[in-house]
Amino acid sequence: MAILKMTKTKNEKKLEVILPEHVAIIMDGNGRWAKRQHKSRIFGHKAGMQNVETIALAANNLGVKVLTLFAFSTENWGRPQDEVNYLMKLPIDFFNTFVPELIENNIKVEGIGEIDDLPEKTRQAFLNAVEDTKDNTGLILNFAINYGGRTEIVDATKSIVNQVLQGKIKTEDIDEKLFQNNLLTNTLAEKANPDLIIRTSGEQRISNFLLWQSAYSEFYFSPKLWPDYTAEDLEEALAAYSNRDRRFGKIRES
Ligand code: IPE
Ligand code: IPE
Ligand code: MG
Repeated sequence: MAILKMTKTKNEKKLEVILPEHVAIIMDGNGRWAKRQHKSRIFGHKAGMQNVETIALAANNLGVKVLTLFAFSTENWGRPQDEVNYLMKLPIDFFNTFVPELIENNIKVEGIGEIDDLPEKTRQAFLNAVEDTKDNTGLILNFAINYGGRTEIVDATKSIVNQVLQGKIKTEDIDEKLFQNNLLTNTLAEKANPDLIIRTSGEQRISNFLLWQSAYSEFYFSPKLWPDYTAEDLEEALAAYSNRDRRFGKIRES
């Protein structure tokens, strides 16, 4: 957690703002947003994609270090085929349109999920964006695409079992740290666990997102549908976070 100190008033009273380093957003409500306007769900997804750029730039400007965006879950394959096809096309459009602007703003693209199971063109668009932004040192824009928290935990378990069978580690070596190192978020090192998880659209559930990593995350639910979610809404969520008392099971010494 970074602590920013700002001068509040002329009489030099200090206001402490605690900024989350890792913010994760469950971008929900594209379908309802479109339906309200009597348009197809696909129209909502397009607007949702455009909003990703707005919120990524806002998070970068606010000094957030990692922004993980839930773009497609392992369960979303169960939607109608034309919607799935469109959702698989969206990353291609997003990166074609916005990579130059991401580079200009020093934003680095990364991802978590079963990337190899994406259609080839989608996979390639994502990998190209990662390659094109790999030297950037600003915000890490981490896309959860074809991501599922349960699959992630099962895959980590398989990998650890194989390491034991191959004699690389002993059962006694398995602890939380080793488990964490076998999760998809291991590339984020000490920033793997989101400080704040925001979900838009009024739903209050985790929907298989970052199950391990959310153990001590703060949650913030916004009634706004994702395409309507603004930089000001993000600032509001960060302000709410700043007032939370994170105790991690301990007690606050007074
Ligand atoms: C979120 O919006 C985007 C994805 C899950 C891909 P939804 O498509 O879930 O929108 P609602 O929840 O149906 O309104
Ligand atoms: C979660 O939203 C997944 C993403 C935002 C990508 P869903 O719309 O799929 O979740 P449920 O079905 O309402 O739980
Ligand atoms: Mg939804």
